[in-house]
Amino acid sequence: MTNSSNKPVNTIETEAKDFASIADRAISRRNFLSAGVAVGASAFVMGATGMLSSSVANANNAKRNSRFGFKPVAVNSLDTVTVPENYSWEIVTSWGDPLWSNGVEFDHASRGTGASQELAFGDNNDGMSLFSEGDDHILVVNNEYVNRSIFHGNRASGVPENADDVRKSKAGHGLSVVQIEQKDKQWKVIKDAPYNRRITADTPMEITGPARGNDLLKTAADPKAVLAKGTFNNCGNGRTPWGTYLACEENFNGYFGSSDLNYAPTESMKRYGVKNKDRGYGWYKEDERFDISKHPNEVNRFGYIVEVDPMDPASTPKKRTALGRFKHENAEVVVAANGHVVVYMGDDERGEFLYRFVSHNRYVEGGDNTNLLEEGELFVARFNDDFSGEWLALTPATTGMKSQAEISIHTRQAASAVKATTMDRPEWVAANPLKNEVYCCLTNNKNRAVTTNAGGDATPVDGPNPREKNNYGQIVRWTPQDADHTSNIFKWDLFVVAGNPSVHNNAYAGSKNINMQNMFNSPDGLAFDDNGMLWIQTDGKYSNEGDYAGMGNNQMLVGDPSTGEIQRFLVGSKECEVTGICWSGDRRTLFVGIQHPGEKGNSHFPGGGESVPRSSVIAITRDDGGLIG
Ligand code: FEO
Ligand code: CA
Ligand code: CA
Repeated sequence: MTNSSNKPVNTIETEAKDFASIADRAISRRNFLSAGVAVGASAFVMGATGMLSSSVANANNAKRNSRFGFKPVAVNSLDTVTVPENYSWEIVTSWGDPLWSNGVEFDHASRGTGASQELAFGDNNDGMSLFSEGDDHILVVNNEYVNRSIFHGNRASGVPENADDVRKSKAGHGLSVVQIEQKDKQWKVIKDAPYNRRITADTPMEITGPARGNDLLKTAADPKAVLAKGTFNNCGNGRTPWGTYLACEENFNGYFGSSDLNYAPTESMKRYGVKNKDRGYGWYKEDERFDISKHPNEVNRFGYIVEVDPMDPASTPKKRTALGRFKHENAEVVVAANGHVVVYMGDDERGEFLYRFVSHNRYVEGGDNTNLLEEGELFVARFNDDFSGEWLALTPATTGMKSQAEISIHTRQAASAVKATTMDRPEWVAANPLKNEVYCCLTNNKNRAVTTNAGGDATPVDGPNPREKNNYGQIVRWTPQDADHTSNIFKWDLFVVAGNPSVHNNAYAGSKNINMQNMFNSPDGLAFDDNGMLWIQTDGKYSNEGDYAGMGNNQMLVGDPSTGEIQRFLVGSKECEVTGICWSGDRRTLFVGIQHPGEKGNSHFPGGGESVPRSSVIAITRDDGGLIG
């Protein structure tokens, strides 16, 4: 078996040892498959797993029988959303829309108050899921953060200036639970619906799992460490088969500051980026629990996965400390063949890690599964250069830490102790519903092979992180041994290496399945549809210049895991990221998030004119009412 450059395929395995050349092979792949194959192999390392020949066959099949139900969209830099011909989109809800009739419509001059925001849809919507029971459709949406300059754009300073600004900011964060209905083909929020709920930075949350009651979580307000207050910077999400929603706390560090500038943040604070100076939210000036010099343990109460029951608006959300504390991106839940619940999770920071939780108890269909995330084992991934990988258990014995509680709190330090693989910012993870494989976006990492992570771990070019100063990102996938998600062994390859073939003629041009028509940078959101097609959302550079020339605005693409083919489905508005994705139960509506349009001041999406740009959830339908994905 030979490829078009007459290089025997089996030398790929040998070459795999030389990771200085892996990036070069990414580009050599551009001529890797035989002439006439329209699309690339799924990954440039496929030869190593012996999958190349079937991949070529699949690629040929794909040419004849495409699984893409749309005509691809070209890039653009417009201040609107672009979807394929014969598809339409509409706004479902935007930042500041009131969820109750005692709220007020969004005011573009003041951009709301603390009181109005508490009754309204939050800002910067990110991960979301739709829960349907009969005719009731409940959309649960993360409101990750607020863009200070837009959110507080009524202030000349563009930052919060008083207590009400901080109240508004806290209410702009968290989750929005909104009941929606489709009337005359339009999805709208039902005001005053019984399921409507706001969860904010001040909502009480039960602390569960190993860290519950631990000294490191005790504060003046909660001396028993059992009840935290609030969740924020909820980025990606997850949903469980027992009907709950998982909100993932990501960049929690940016909300803490110190009134005492001489306060010395601890080493464990530094590992998570907690400093004396916050990122401009100003919360610590109005609510002293965010002042690290006064309440240093408060930081240990964030960075978790929060489980919410959307069908019970009175329920107390639960922080699931068993799933570890880091900058959680999303939580992909899989029930393994043996019934244990497996949750795959990325820690989105340069050089941080990829994790897996395996529940102690088993899922029982129709049984009481409500506490499956309470107890289990936590693992971190090591990727070997021979395309094998293993999940390393994080236990007191393997990490040298005192207890599972400490591992649940200082999870990054635990992962460093077992020498996990430092990754190029693991974002969303998605498991193929039709096949035994899991994918993760490694969005980019300008520090790859330049500096260590915050824990001092080296970040060499290796494994699934094959390019130094990786500005485009890639998607890694792995296959658990014996089709068992609880197995500690897996094989991996790269589904796509993003790049720009119009600018580069090397590894930065991307893998074979990247071309001038589908190029993108910084894959972030990731989800499978019921057909086993992979939807890829980007949060990257939208300058459309230099290294990013020809890439336009952030976008959403669809990939075929069996062929590697990737086509663009959507282009977002100016300066937005495209994030958050879920389908209606009948698969005739696709809900997508348009986050932070105009984050640098150059958008009026969706209102146009001189309106304030507002993060929004959109609903996409086919004009013929057909299935999407
Ligand atoms: Fe909130 Fe990692 O993106
Ligand atoms: Ca993200
Ligand atoms: Ca991102």
